[in-house]
Amino acid sequence: MCGIVGYMGDRKACPILIKGLHRLEYRGYDSAGVAMVNADGNLNVFKCRGKVDDLEEYLKGKDDSGTIGIAHTRWATHGVPDNVNAHPHYSESENIALIHNGIIENYRVLKDALIQKGFNFKSETDSEVLCNLIEYIRNEEKCELAEAVRLALNKVVGAYAIAVLEKGNNDQIVAARQSSPMCIGLGEDEFFISSDAASIIDYTNEFVYVNDGEIAILRRHEPLKIINLENKDAEFNITNLDLSISQLEKGGYPHFMLKEIFEQPDTLVDCIRGRVSPETAQVILSGVLDNREKFIAAKRIIFVSCGTSWHASLIGEHLIEDLCRIPVEVEYASEFRYRNPIIHSDDVVIAVSQSGETADTLAAIRIAKEAGAFVYGICNVVGSSIARETHSGSYIHVGPEIGVASTKAFTGQVTVMAMLALAIGKERGTIDQDVYEKIAKDLLVLPEKMTEVLRQDSNISDLAKTFTYAHNFMYLGRGYNYAVALEGALKLKEISYIHAEGLPAAEMKHGPIALIDIELPVVVIATSEKTHEKTISNIQEIKARGGRIIAIIREGDTQIKKLADWVIEIPALCDYLMPVIAVIPLQLLAYYVAVYKGRNVDQPRNLAKSVTVE
Ligand code: AGP
Ligand code: GLU
Repeated sequence: MCGIVGYMGDRKACPILIKGLHRLEYRGYDSAGVAMVNADGNLNVFKCRGKVDDLEEYLKGKDDSGTIGIAHTRWATHGVPDNVNAHPHYSESENIALIHNGIIENYRVLKDALIQKGFNFKSETDSEVLCNLIEYIRNEEKCELAEAVRLALNKVVGAYAIAVLEKGNNDQIVAARQSSPMCIGLGEDEFFISSDAASIIDYTNEFVYVNDGEIAILRRHEPLKIINLENKDAEFNITNLDLSISQLEKGGYPHFMLKEIFEQPDTLVDCIRGRVSPETAQVILSGVLDNREKFIAAKRIIFVSCGTSWHASLIGEHLIEDLCRIPVEVEYASEFRYRNPIIHSDDVVIAVSQSGETADTLAAIRIAKEAGAFVYGICNVVGSSIARETHSGSYIHVGPEIGVASTKAFTGQVTVMAMLALAIGKERGTIDQDVYEKIAKDLLVLPEKMTEVLRQDSNISDLAKTFTYAHNFMYLGRGYNYAVALEGALKLKEISYIHAEGLPAAEMKHGPIALIDIELPVVVIATSEKTHEKTISNIQEIKARGGRIIAIIREGDTQIKKLADWVIEIPALCDYLMPVIAVIPLQLLAYYVAVYKGRNVDQPRNLAKSVTVE
C-alpha cells in the first residue's frame, strides 16, 4: 500500500509534503495529491493521476500556501487510478479533507447507509466513504473533528492510516491508524506525519509510532495528544532514529527483495483478509460469487502467464483439478498467443500477473476474449491493464513489489489460487467438507507458519556461503513441489546469474542424472506426504552418484534428515498449501547466494520488473 505525509508548523507545508511524497515513491504509486489550509482558512485539495513530478507540474500556478497540510501517494485498491479516485478526498460539503492508506472492508455497507442519508459520492474509493462518514457524524453529533473521527472509526472494519483536515482550522490535524503504518515526527513546535520515517527524517529524528486503534490529535503550539477508540488517553514513547535515508527507504533492510521476503506474513494477512472467515472458515471470493454460473459451467480452465506467475499457475492447476475436478491447462502466454489456440466459449481463461502489464499475458487474454471465453485475472496492481481488461478477477493485495525478483507476489498468487479452488469447488460441490475446512483453517495460520520459516534466515545465510562457487544447480520436486522447484531455480538464476534447472524429481532419471557429481548442488523439495517415499528414492539415486543434497523437509522428517547433506525443516501444513512456505527457504537461499556474489539483487542485469514489451 502507499503512503501518507502531513505537516503543521511555521514553514510552508507544500514543499515538505512534496519532498515527503518523493521519499515514499519507492513504495510505488499510481496517483498523488496534497491538501492545505491557507491563512484565510480555505481548504485546498490538488491531486492527479501519475507520478509526484506530475503533481508538482499540476501545482504550478495554484494556491499552495499554508503552514498545515496532508499528502498521499495512492496504490489503488478500490477504484482505478485517476484524478477522481486520487487522494486527498473532500467530504461532500468540502469542509473536510482526508487521506487514507489501507482498505476499509465494510465500505460498501457504510456507503449505502450514507447514500440513504442523502450523500453523493464522486469516487469509487473506500476512502471517500470514511471522509463522508466523519462529516455525517460531525453534523449529527455537532461535535469536534477529533471526536467525529473517533466515532467514525468505531464503525469501520479494515486497515487505515488516515489524516484529516478541516476548512477554517489551520491549527489542527487529526490522524489515526489500524494496521497500516504511521509515525508522528516531533520538531521544534512542528508536527510531521508519515507512513514511514524516511519521508521526514530530514526534519527530525524524534518519532512517535502510533499504535493500532489510536488517534493522534495534533494542535498547533500544544503537546501531542493520543487517545484510543474508547476516548481514553494513550501513553506513547518518543523514539530517536539514527538510520540513514537509504536504509529507511527499505524499512531498514539492505534490499527491497529481503524486505519483501520478510513482509510475506503481513502481506498474506492482507491477501486473506475479508476472504476467509476466522469464525466459520468459509471462503468468500467475490469474483467467484459474482460469476458462479461461469465456473459451474466451465468445461476447462486455461492459465496464461509468464515467469513466476506461470509457476504459480502450475500450482493452481493442481489445486483446481484436485479440488474442483475441472481439466486445467497451463500455458506460457507467449506460446499461447502465437499458436492459434483452440478456445471454447465455455472455457475459463485465468490470467496471472503481478504487474498486470506483461505484454504477452495481455495479448493472450485479448485472444481469449475474442474467442468468447470468460477471462478472469489474478493481479497485484489495481487498475492495471490486465485487471481492467479481464471480465472479473481477484487482486492479491500484497502491496507494491519493488524487487525485480518476485517473492511476495508468488505467495500471494498461490494463496489466492487456493481460495479460488475452495470457492469454485464449493459451488460445484466437488470438495469434501472436511478437506475444505482443513485447507481454510490452514490458510488462516499460514502467516504465522511463514514467520516460523523466516526465523531460519541466518542458517540459510550461512548455508548460502557454501555455494557461491557453483556454476549450476538442480532443483527437484514432485506434484505441487515441481512448481516450487522451478520457482527456486528461477530465483537463483535471475539474481545470482548461476544457471539453475527445475525438474519433476522423477524426470531426473531420464537424462539429467548424467549431470550429478559432487560439484552440482541438488535442492530437493520433499515436503509432500503423498510422494514422500518416491522422493526418498530420488535422493538415494543422487547420493549413489556422489551428489550433494539440500532438502526442504517437514519438521521431524528423520528419514530424509539422515540422507541429505543439509536440511531446512518447515512446519507441516496440508499438502495443498505447503508450496507457500516451502518456497521461502529457496527465496532466502537465492538472495544470500546473490549477495555473497556481489550481485545487484534489486535490479539484476538485463531484467525489468514488468516486461511490457514482447
Ligand atoms: C520473476 O521473479 C520475474 N520477475 C519474472 O519472471 C516475472 O514473474 C514475469 O515477468 C511475469 O511478470 P508478471 O507477473 O508481472 O506478469
Ligand atoms: N483503499 C484506498 C484507495 O483505493 C487507499 C489505497 C492506498 O493505500 O493507497 O484509494
